[in-house]
Amino acid sequence: MLVLGIETSCDETGLAVYDSQAGLLANVLHSQVELHADYGGVVPELASRDHIRKIVPLTRAVLDRAGRSLADLDGVAYTAGPGLMGALLVGAGFGRSLAWTLGIPALGIHHMEAHLLAPLMDAAQPPLPFVALLVSGGHTQLVEVDGIGAYTMLGESLDDAAGEAFDKAAKMLGLGYPGGPHIARCAIDGDPARFRFPRPMTDRPGLDFSFSGLKTFTLNTVKAHEPLNDRDRADIARCFEEAVVDTLAIKCRRAIDQNGAGHLVIAGGVSANVRLRERLESKLDARVHYAEPSLCTDNGAMVAFAGCQRLLTGETEPLRIVTRARWPMTSLAPANS
Ligand code: KG4
Ligand code: ZN
Repeated sequence: MLVLGIETSCDETGLAVYDSQAGLLANVLHSQVELHADYGGVVPELASRDHIRKIVPLTRAVLDRAGRSLADLDGVAYTAGPGLMGALLVGAGFGRSLAWTLGIPALGIHHMEAHLLAPLMDAAQPPLPFVALLVSGGHTQLVEVDGIGAYTMLGESLDDAAGEAFDKAAKMLGLGYPGGPHIARCAIDGDPARFRFPRPMTDRPGLDFSFSGLKTFTLNTVKAHEPLNDRDRADIARCFEEAVVDTLAIKCRRAIDQNGAGHLVIAGGVSANVRLRERLESKLDARVHYAEPSLCTDNGAMVAFAGCQRLLTGETEPLRIVTRARWPMTSLAPANS
C-alpha cells in the first residue's frame, strides 16, 4: 500500500510517500522558521498562508523523489490535530480533496500518535505493551501503549511542555528558535556542576511533569549573571539541559518500574536530544527505541506511516473534514476495532 502523508499542524510543511512493503520512499520538508523569526513565535495566519503556497509544489517534489505518480497512491493521510486550526485545515482540505479526486481513502491522523509511531518505522519493533515518552513543543506525556490507538495516559505536564521549556530557555540566553538544538549545541562546553537547577516534581510520587519552575529558575540565573559571556551561556545551557534530561529520565524509570515494560519508545522533537537518549539508555532497565533525528521533529513521514498502519486495517472515514485544535490521544479508537 502506497500512502501520501501530509503534515501541516504548525510551522512545517511535511510531505512523504510511504510504502508498506518498501518502507519510506521519500520525505520532504519546508520549515517556516525564517518566516516567523521576527515575531518571536509562530504567527498562525502566516503559517496557514505559507502551507497553502508550499503544499502543491512539495507534493509534486515528493512524488518525483519517490519515482511515483498520483495514480500510484492507495491512500492519503493528513494531520487532523492537535495543532493550529488554520494550518491543519490546509493539509486536511488538500489531502481529502486529493483523495476524493483520485477515488482513494483519506484518514485524518492524530499528530502525537504519528510522533509515537515514528520509531516503529524501524525494523526493530518493540513488543506490546510498551511505555512511550512523548516530548514535543506542545506535549510531555508518558503513555502505556497496548496497540495502535490503545493508549493509557500515565502522566503528563501540568504546565509547559519539555520542548517549550527548551524554547523559552534559549530565548532567555539570546539563542535562536527552535531552542532545543541551540541549547544542546551551546551546552556541549558547559560545566554541569556550576549551577544546581531543580528537578521538578521528582521528590513526590506520580508520573506528572512541571517545567514552569525550571523556566523561572533559568530566568533568575540569567538575571543574576548579566551581562552573560559565552562561558555563562554554555554553563546555564548545560545545567538546564541536565535538569530536563534528569527529570525525564527519573519519570521514565518510574513508569518502567511500575509497568514492568521492557521497552521504552521516545518520540517528538525533544527525543532528538542526544543527552536524553544517552541518559535513558544508560540508566533504564529497558531497551530504548527512537527515530532518526529528522523523524523526531515534525515531518510527513510519520503521518504517512501512521496512516498506512490504520488504512491497512481497513479503517475508513466519512467524506467530511474534521480538524481539532485540541484532541486527547486517549480518545482515539484502536486501529483494528
Ligand atoms: O515534535 P516537534 O517538532 O513539534 C511539536 O509537535 O511541537 O517538537 C518541537 C520541539 C521544539 O520545542 C524544539 O525546541 C524541540 O522539539 N527540540 C529539541 C531538540 N530538537 C528539537 N529539544 C531538545 N534537544 C533537541 N536536539
Ligand atoms: Zn510535533
